[in-house]
Amino acid sequence: MLAREGIEWGLLGPREVERLWSRHILNSAAIAELIPLGASVADVGSGAGLPGIPVALLRPDLHVTLIEPLLRRSNFLTHSVDDLGITRQVAVRRDRAEQVRQTFDVVASRALAPLDRLIRWCLPLMNDDGQILAIKGASAQQEVADHGRLIADSGLTADIVTVRAAPEVDPTTVIRLRLA
Ligand SMILES: C[S@@+](CC[C@H](N)C(=O)[O-])C[C@H]1O[C@@H](n2cnc3c(N)ncnc32)[C@H](O)[C@@H]1O
Repeated sequence: MLAREGIEWGLLGPREVERLWSRHILNSAAIAELIPLGASVADVGSGAGLPGIPVALLRPDLHVTLIEPLLRRSNFLTHSVDDLGITRQVAVRRDRAEQVRQTFDVVASRALAPLDRLIRWCLPLMNDDGQILAIKGASAQQEVADHGRLIADSGLTADIVTVRAAPEVDPTTVIRLRLA
């Protein structure tokens, strides 16, 4: 679906087709092991469903809400969730994170925003005993260092975790934030 409608609808560039598994799907799926059993999960800025859809497919015990403000992207998400037959497990909300008044055990995101903006958007969506899982690239360490003050002032602690969905792909770097 990503290789077909994902490209046709302009959600991914055509050059991504050959690296859909390594760079996108497995990079997203890797965070599944960090999520507790039966958790409610928000995927903020889900785009083409990353990381929310691979995580939901791997973990039928989770309840996943895909939050995406752009119409074309949220239409793609609704279409994908219907086509995959996972409408009972996965909800799609066409909203900006700031408009959502619901809280979750895990607030996940991938390529959403710089860490300071990400914290402002995601912290109100997190249950008190929950966690924010932000998939980041090589910038993770630097972003945590740059925003140490905001992290502390928000009452959070941060750690950086690397996880891997398969041995042959690059690890996924995640900034995990929890209330201190
Ligand atoms: C760079 S894309 C990443 C999409 C997807 N997570 C991925 O990894 O391919 C960022 C997404 O965040 C969405 N977004 C931007 N601002 C947002 C906000 N305030 N609340 C929720 N989503 C937002 C955009 O519409 C876009 O789909």
